[in-house]
Amino acid sequence: MTSSHILERSVKSLPLKWYYDDKHHTKEVSKIWSKEWFYACHENALKEPLSYITVNIDNFNVVVLRDKNNSLVAYINTCRHRGSILCKEKQGKLKSNLLTCPYHQWAYNASDGRLIKTTSIIDPKNFKKSDHSLVKVKMKVWHGLIFLNFNNKAKWDLKKVFVDYSSAFNKLNVEDYEVGHVWSKTINCNWKIFWENYSECLHCPNLHPELSDLVPLYGRRLVDIKDDPQWKKFINEKDPKFQGGLKNGAETWSMDGSAQGHKTKYLEDQKDFPGYIYMTTWPSMFLAIFTDHIRTVRILPLGNETTEVTAEWLFTSKTINDKNYKMKSVVDFSVTVMEQDGEACELNQKGVHNPSIKSGVLMPEEYEIKKFHDWLKRKI
Ligand code: FES
Ligand SMILES: [Fe+2]
Repeated sequence: MTSSHILERSVKSLPLKWYYDDKHHTKEVSKIWSKEWFYACHENALKEPLSYITVNIDNFNVVVLRDKNNSLVAYINTCRHRGSILCKEKQGKLKSNLLTCPYHQWAYNASDGRLIKTTSIIDPKNFKKSDHSLVKVKMKVWHGLIFLNFNNKAKWDLKKVFVDYSSAFNKLNVEDYEVGHVWSKTINCNWKIFWENYSECLHCPNLHPELSDLVPLYGRRLVDIKDDPQWKKFINEKDPKFQGGLKNGAETWSMDGSAQGHKTKYLEDQKDFPGYIYMTTWPSMFLAIFTDHIRTVRILPLGNETTEVTAEWLFTSKTINDKNYKMKSVVDFSVTVMEQDGEACELNQKGVHNPSIKSGVLMPEEYEIKKFHDWLKRKI
C-alpha cells in the first residue's frame, strides 16, 4: 500500500449485486480473469522434474508442471478426447513425462502437449493426433514467480501488471528463495471482497489485535502516516504509531516479532525500511516483503461467492537449512491475520444480499479500494 491521498468526498462503493450476481460474475471472468496475468506459484514449488500443481479459476482448470528436462509449462487441464480433467490433485508428481487421462487413458507428452496415444483399437483414417494436442496456457516466469494468462496474445508489461511495485524487490533474488510453507483456504466471499479488506485498515484494531500491536499505525486504523490529515504535526514523533513500521524491537511479522537471524542485508541497510513492503498485482496476488521472508498471497475466484486464498512463505536457502529457525512463528502470525480477515470477508458477503440496499459507501481512508474499483470498472 503506497501513500496516496485520502478521499475528500465519500463515494459510492460498487453495486452490492456485483458481489453475488451470476451474470455479473460471468462478465468479470471473461473481461478480467480470462485476460489478465494471474499468479500460479513460485517456481520452487515445482522444484522436482515431473512435479505439477493445478490451479482453479472459476470453472477453468490449469495444470502447471516441470517436465523431465526441467522446463516449466502450463496447459488447460482438459483432455482432448471428451473433456475429462487430466490431473486430479492440487499438486502431485507424474510417473513419467506423460500426462495420462484418468478416464480412457489418452496420453500426452508433458513437454509439448502432443497427443502420443489413444486407446482405441485403431485410430480412424481421418483422425490426426496432431489435431488433438493439449491447449497451452501462456506463462511468464518473473523473478521465479510463475504468472499465467489465458489470453495467448497477452504481453508481459511490468508497469501494467503491478499496481504497487517496489524496486527493492529487484535486489532480493526472489528466484533463489525456497518455498517453506503453503497455506490455502476457501473463503465464502466474492474475490473483490477479499481485495477490499486487504486495502484498508479501518478494521484493524477491531479484528487484528495482534497485528495492531505489531504495527502500531494499523492500530490507528491507518495504513500510511499521510492518511492522517494532521500527519505533519507528528513528523518529529519517534513513536511508530505516528511514523509507521513495526513496534520498537520487532523485526518481522512473527508471533514474537523476532526474525531469528538471516535477515536480508539489503533491506536491513535501507534507512527507511518500515519492516514490510507490499507489492500488488490485481486481480490475483500481492507480495509482502519482510527482512527474513517473503509472503505471496494468491486470490482466485472459485465461483462468484467463493474465493481461494493461498499463501506461500518464501525463505532464503540459508534460512530454510537453519534448524533453529522458527518458521512456525512466522507462518502462524500471518495465518492468524488471514483467518481474521477471512471471517470478516464472510460476514461482508453474508450482508450483500439485500435488494433494498443498492450499494455501500467509501470513506476517506478507503482510497485504495476506490483505486481498485476504478481499475475494475475500466476492465469491464
Ligand atoms: S476423456 Fe480423456 S481419454 Fe477419454
Ligand atoms: Fe485485515
